[in-house]
Amino acid sequence: MDTNDLYLTLNDGNRIPRIGYGVFRMTDPAVCEHAVAEAIKAGYRLIDTAAAYGNERAVGAAVRGSGVARNEIFVTTKLWITDTSYNGARKGVERSLEQLGMDYVDLLLIHQPYNDYYGAWRALGEMQDEGLARSIGMDNFTPDRMADFLFFNDRKPAVNMVECNAFYQREYDKRYLHEHGIVMQAWSPLAAGHAELLDNDLLSHIAGVHDKSIPQIVLRWLTQRGVVPVVKSANPERMRQNLAIFDFALSDEEMAAIATLDAGRTCFSPRDTGEAVHDFLEQAMTYSV
Ligand SMILES: NC(=O)c1ccc[n+]([C@@H]2O[C@H](COP(=O)([O-])OP(=O)(O)OC[C@H]3O[C@@H](n4cnc5c(N)ncnc54)[C@H](OP(=O)(O)O)[C@@H]3O)[C@@H](O)[C@H]2O)c1
Repeated sequence: MDTNDLYLTLNDGNRIPRIGYGVFRMTDPAVCEHAVAEAIKAGYRLIDTAAAYGNERAVGAAVRGSGVARNEIFVTTKLWITDTSYNGARKGVERSLEQLGMDYVDLLLIHQPYNDYYGAWRALGEMQDEGLARSIGMDNFTPDRMADFLFFNDRKPAVNMVECNAFYQREYDKRYLHEHGIVMQAWSPLAAGHAELLDNDLLSHIAGVHDKSIPQIVLRWLTQRGVVPVVKSANPERMRQNLAIFDFALSDEEMAAIATLDAGRTCFSPRDTGEAVHDFLEQAMTYSV
């Protein structure tokens, strides 16, 4: 892999940009449409939304209004838990396409590893064959769920999108996915702007060496590991800054130093107990998608 290429090739032959722009928590349609328009203007070619974000209509409007050809913008959306079943998936995808005002998406993900994701995967495969989604994949699948899934399914996910940042590096998960030809995408690559990450001494030192910012170091570190970060900023200057990571490289020593920052656990709410998953699902089922 040339770490300065702007695209990676997925296991289905499609190409994915090496960095994307995400719109989680942008619930105001005007704000979201404006932000996506600015992001495309800044140079992002991957826009990451989801049925559960409630902003697919605004994303579609921004993509259409951008003046950039549809086939040059890689649009991801995600199927919510309430639609994660064989019959639900088609309804969910048709609703997403209608909201986006598009006749296909570039990447369609099963947003969470809950409900009937086996049935949903069969439906996604059919919709991929019909051209409604160019690539299909998973989101938030841990290696044990992924292993089970890969064992019993012929069609491989093109990606798995998981939380990944300097404090939660998931090297094992990444290696496992790469061994199976699956690209890892990183959500919350800046730990959602966590002050401890943006003030970290080691990252600040490396940033100084390269005359870059800490976010640029973290995003570069991810892409250099073969991971595709999906980053959010509402600020056009930061949008551009976060993209300017393909004109320098971190040394092996710097990569190894950053590896020491791994705390090995989520920066957000863990979902490693029955109670935590139960509470998450109870809340998730109330989302209106
Ligand atoms: N699949 C999933 O389950 C899942 C879950 C969570 C997120 N995601 C995806 O991942 C995307 C990104 O995650 P995220 O929004 O949680 O967090 P993030 O991208 O890690 O961090 C965003 C925060 O960092 C700040 N920021 C961005 N660039 C900066 C810079 N150069 N300097 C200083 N601060 C900077 C932003 O503030 P400003 O806006 O003020 O710049 C914002 O507060 C989401 O939008 C979504 O598409 C997916």
